[in-house]
Amino acid sequence: MNFQLWLLLVLTSIYSGWCVRIQSENYNPDIDLDVPGLINKYGYPVEIHTVTTDDGFILTLHRIPHGRVGTRSENEIQTREPVLMQHGLLASSCSWILASPEKAPAYIMADAGYDVWLGNARGNRYSRAHTRLSPDEEKFWDFSWDEMASLDIPAVIDYILLTTKHQQLYYIGHSMGTTIFFACMATQTKYQSKVKAMFALAPVANVSYIKSPIKYLAPFASVIEKLMELLGEYEFLPHNDNFTKWKEYVCTTYNFEELMCRNAIFFLTGFDAPQFNLTWLPVILSHNPAGTSVRTVAHYAQQYNDGKFEHYDFGKEENMRRYHQTTPPLYYPTRIKVPVVLMSGKNDFLADPKDVSNLAAHLPNLIINYIVPLQDFNHIDFVWGVDAAQYVYRVILKYMKFF
Ligand SMILES: *[C@@H]1O[C@H](CO)[C@@H](O)[C@H](O)[C@H]1NC(C)=O
Ligand SMILES: *[C@@H]1O[C@H](CO)[C@@H](O)[C@H](O)[C@H]1NC(C)=O
Ligand SMILES: *[C@@H]1O[C@H](CO)[C@@H](O)[C@H](O)[C@H]1NC(C)=O
Repeated sequence: MNFQLWLLLVLTSIYSGWCVRIQSENYNPDIDLDVPGLINKYGYPVEIHTVTTDDGFILTLHRIPHGRVGTRSENEIQTREPVLMQHGLLASSCSWILASPEKAPAYIMADAGYDVWLGNARGNRYSRAHTRLSPDEEKFWDFSWDEMASLDIPAVIDYILLTTKHQQLYYIGHSMGTTIFFACMATQTKYQSKVKAMFALAPVANVSYIKSPIKYLAPFASVIEKLMELLGEYEFLPHNDNFTKWKEYVCTTYNFEELMCRNAIFFLTGFDAPQFNLTWLPVILSHNPAGTSVRTVAHYAQQYNDGKFEHYDFGKEENMRRYHQTTPPLYYPTRIKVPVVLMSGKNDFLADPKDVSNLAAHLPNLIINYIVPLQDFNHIDFVWGVDAAQYVYRVILKYMKFF
């Protein structure tokens, strides 16, 4: 679509949304629930666990130890194999539960007999805590997805295996959840034996062929990052109750506004109206974005600018101090021996099929490069798509039995 026309439509819709009052009969009570609240409401057991990383971040894990049917004894829970599900950029554990139990991946996994653990990367609304630092301090935000890979993933895997007394787990990642897995496994090879198999939904390593218009911002990323630092802003799109209310107000007043807000999401991730359930839009908006560090976003912009799967670039001097070389070290997917199932969409504006097939060529233990057989399947359909259960999660369950 013509970009200017599109922008005009978005601005008009925001303006008209601003001017009309939210209708109370539209109000969806799920908006006020957090992840454990939603899991409970939909009839599943939920546990909240916290894990402290080596550098002091306190991460929250949401666990669905078993499905809806029957009460389970502790023994029976322990025989269930653990699955770690890790969300994408600016998201949270909410990614896996924002649909009805028949459609949402976390519920499907729990009902299929798995012990489901939903991760939350450092800095999002559920993992915004630290043993010494406060989110108000600059030092707290001194991380990119490098640290999620090197510190969060190992801490979470160790915690789950220790708690469940299992030797291995399955890993399901979406978008950034795949980036940090690949980066972790490529550098800390001893963790490879702890993962039975990895399912990479909308996988992101190199992002050279990204179609999302967000790429036009990438060349300015370092300037924007410096500017935000000058303003003392180190956190990117945090979960904020006022912002959430504003989004609900603007996006869900009338059908027209709903469609415009949905299209704004499509504009960034790929257009696919048939897969988007508008009923869930208010709940999706109330949970996303869930926040991260400015540097995490800047890191992706660097990947795009350099066309490489690499560590965060601090600039020559700081790179020398941290990495003992002037350029950021690369991550090598060729080192990952874990069995990997790649799952990608033909209309994904962020994980482009060309980038995915490049990644596939570099993975030594690739089981399959599965492409969802729907023409318009996009980046977010992997977590919210109405047919994702059939085309993604059922396929995962089928493959899980092989390992
Ligand atoms: C959309 O979500 C609502 C609420 O969970 C559900 O009743 C409806 O069946 C969903 N629609 C589709 C097409 O999946
Ligand atoms: C939200 O708005 C209220 C009143 O305008 C203000 O007191 C509060 O600090 C705001 N909260 C955040 C998180 O910005
Ligand atoms: C992808 O990244 C690697 C570094 O991890 C680089 O060697 C390779 O050339 C990149 N591939 C493409 C197609 O850009």
